[in-house]
Order: sequence, then C-alpha cells, then structure tokens
Amino acid sequence: MFAQVVVCDGCCCGRISKGHNEVPIDALKSAWQENELDGKVELTISGCLGPCSMHNVAVLKTDEDQTWVGKLSGNEHYDALVDWALEVVNNGVNVALPQILATQVFEHSKSLVVRN
Ligand code: FES
Repeated sequence: MFAQVVVCDGCCCGRISKGHNEVPIDALKSAWQENELDGKVELTISGCLGPCSMHNVAVLKTDEDQTWVGKLSGNEHYDALVDWALEVVNNGVNVALPQILATQVFEHSKSLVVRN
C-alpha cells in the first residue's frame, strides 16, 4: 500500500501576504507523529504544485489514484487530511474522502511525483 498527503506551501498557498490562509505545517507534522502515521502515510510539504488559483491546495495520493483538493481554508480542512490518512491506515486506500474535503475536490491533470 502506498499513500501520501502532499500539502502545498508554495508561492501562493499559505502566503498570508497574498491574502491566503496559513498552512498549519507544524500542526500537521505533530498530528502525524501523535497518530503514528509516519512510515504508513507519507506527509510531504511541497513547493508550488501548479494550480495556484485553487489555493490552498493538497493532493491525496495512492497507488491507484490522486485526488486534488483546493481552497482549503481552515483547520477543519487540514484536520480532515489527518482523518483521511487515519482511515487509509485502518481501512485501506479505497476509503471515501471526509465530506468536508469531498466538496473541495477539483480536476487537475498533472501527474504528481513528489518525494520527501
Ligand atoms: S503555490 Fe500551491 S499550487 Fe501554486
């Protein structure tokens, strides 16, 4: 099983100076540690992924699929990334997205290969 959460913290996503919401990087890393997700679901904080107009962007990636979510605007959205990772660990890569993220999905054709 491979699963990865890629969180954009690039030139636009998370840039408060551009009027965008902060990306809670430290909180995400802490949540990964507290929930012992390290080594099970990769957390990658990345530079610009491309679709800056959808700030703030993240990608939920598995062996089979990648799902882009955008306009993440608060802790609830980022907490839901943690929830998704926990669900994957417990139930495999075909779990449904948390509802709060399902509404943020957008299509993006870029095939993503981002490593820590
Ligand atoms: S900065 Fe996040 S998509 Fe460009």
